[in-house]
Parts: sequence; structure tokens; C-alpha cells
Amino acid sequence: MLSICVFASGRGSNLQALLDAIDADRVDARVVLVISNKSAAGAMETATARGIPAVHTSDTHFASESLYTDHLLKLLQEHHCDFIVLAGYLKKIPAEIIQRFSQRIINIHPALLPSFGGKGLYGHHVHEAVLAYGCKISGATVHMVDLEYDTGAPILQKCVPVLEEDTPGTLAERVLKVEHEILPLAVQLFAEQRVTIEGHRAIITAKGNRP
Ligand code: GAR
Repeated sequence: MLSICVFASGRGSNLQALLDAIDADRVDARVVLVISNKSAAGAMETATARGIPAVHTSDTHFASESLYTDHLLKLLQEHHCDFIVLAGYLKKIPAEIIQRFSQRIINIHPALLPSFGGKGLYGHHVHEAVLAYGCKISGATVHMVDLEYDTGAPILQKCVPVLEEDTPGTLAERVLKVEHEILPLAVQLFAEQRVTIEGHRAIITAKGNRP
């Protein structure tokens, strides 16, 4: 069973969707730690209410990136985390952690990557950009995390229509619904060891066909 650390900066609806899927036995994993750079994040409240250790920490609390990295690694070790989910986490994860958790760290992004990703494109900025461009579809992507913003191999994507009357808010709501579907599904693919990375492709093995 995967022991997951969820990093989240905000409201925490993706964390909640993952916990709901775990409770419903749709995901064979447990969330053992939640880390946030915002002490008042909804995700922190959700974790605390369920007795999941919730730690507020940020690079700004440390004199150097390496001290911050050591602190994060210690937390991940203490809680026996073997998988990381970024669920609305708006800070960069230190490179050493990405390397140590190679192929075991995923992110949810509210657009169809590689469009509308990268530094500065997060949350409502993404939906504003999609509408300003005049796209007719948008969606969500769960992808591997590598050393850049939003550039890792896609694992699952799902699209939604963009409607003529959409505002960033209404589009965000429609996209969020599919985020809540595909994030737990992606975690379960890892729990079943059905994801293999080849180059920039995440190959999903059919159920029951695992070598
Ligand atoms: C989600 O829409 C997620 O895709 C987005 O932040 C929101 C967090 O919502 N993440 C990014 O934009 C990262 N590039 P939540 O706190 O309710 O899960």
C-alpha cells in the first residue's frame, strides 16, 4: 500500500477527493502526511480533522535551500512516505526531493498540458489564459513531476468543453470536477504498479497484465 505525503497550498479539494476515494476503497493507499506552505490552508484543516499529521513549512523559514530540503526529507522519512502527490501546491519542490522520489511524485494541473502550464500558470491564471486564447476545450492533467514546472510525462488527462458564457470561475468549477476524478485514478494506477516511464511517456499497463 502506498504511504502518501500530499503537498497542498490551498482549499484542499483534491486532497479531499483522494481521501474520499481511499475511504470508498477505490484507492489502495493511505495519506500519512500533509505539508503546506500556508498555515491557514483548507488542506491543513482537512488533514487535522482526520488525524493526519499536517505540517506547515516553507523555504522562507530556512536560511538555505539545503536546510529546507533536509527538513522535508526528515519529515518524509519520519512518516515513512513512499509517494508524493502535489495537490494544488504552488511552490517548487527542491530538486533533491524530486530526484530521491524519482517516478514517485505526481502533480495535478488544471489544463491540458503541455498547453497552459509553466511558471505563473496556476489556479485561476490558467482558466483566464484558456478563455483569453479562445480555446473550445480545456481539462486537467495528472503528470509526473520533474525539475521544471508542469513538464513531466502526462499520466491521465480528461477534457471538458469551454462554453461561450464561461468565466474563469465557471470553467474552474467544471475542470475541478474532472481533477477530482483523475487524481485518485492516477494514484490507484501507481498503487497497482501499472505505470512505467519510457522517455517522456507514461505507459499504463492494462489491469491484470502487469509483468
Ligand atoms: C486545483 O485546481 C489544482 O489543479 C491547481 O490548484 C487547485 C487547487 O485546488 N493547481 C495548480 O494550478 C498547479 N499548477 P484544491 O486546493 O481545491 O485542491
